[in-house]
Amino acid sequence: MLVAVEGLDQSGKATQAQHLRDRLRASGYKSRVVSFPDYGTFLGEEIARSLQGERDYGPETMQLLYVANRFERKADIDRWHAAGLIVLFDRYIASGVAYGEAQGLDPEWLTALQVSLPQPELTILLDIAPETAVARKTVGRDRYERDFALLTRVRESYLRQAEQAQWVRIDAEQAPDVVAAEMAAAIEPRLPELR
Ligand code: TMP
Repeated sequence: MLVAVEGLDQSGKATQAQHLRDRLRASGYKSRVVSFPDYGTFLGEEIARSLQGERDYGPETMQLLYVANRFERKADIDRWHAAGLIVLFDRYIASGVAYGEAQGLDPEWLTALQVSLPQPELTILLDIAPETAVARKTVGRDRYERDFALLTRVRESYLRQAEQAQWVRIDAEQAPDVVAAEMAAAIEPRLPELR
């Protein structure tokens, strides 16, 4: 089972994905968290340099790098999926659509580029206001995190995407344990039977 966790920076994606993984493992499931961008690959290093302002790629090139960075891990994801793991993505396909759309790219093009990636059965949006994202991180922000208008458009794209089937929106302004409980409730009815 593939589950994507999405949202603005500081929405709690990484913490909540790890918490959910631990909870699933405690119930006997095999689970792991996979984060994108994967900064450990050659393309991931290039993405990191760009986020720090050492490169100046246009939006198309930037999102194509992110997409290619996911394809770099496709074989691993397919293998874990086939082995019955519950793979929890800390950002995945929808991040490319949301951030790309927020930079003026066509969301249909961004979606089409990614149709042959393994598709998540469920995408959980941890929804926070851009004001909250900015308030939760005041130092060390990357080039996107410093751009409030961009964050506003990213959230709009996420909310539009979250109207699709296989999406659940959770109010991530709530206390972390409430968010964790709502995430567990979203995934539990979809879990496979344990053998
Ligand atoms: P991170 O802070 O979650 O590591 O992500 C770095 C930035 O990259 C974040 O501002 C969101 C952006 N991003 C995209 O623009 N497109 C993508 O496909 C992904 C995965 C992230």
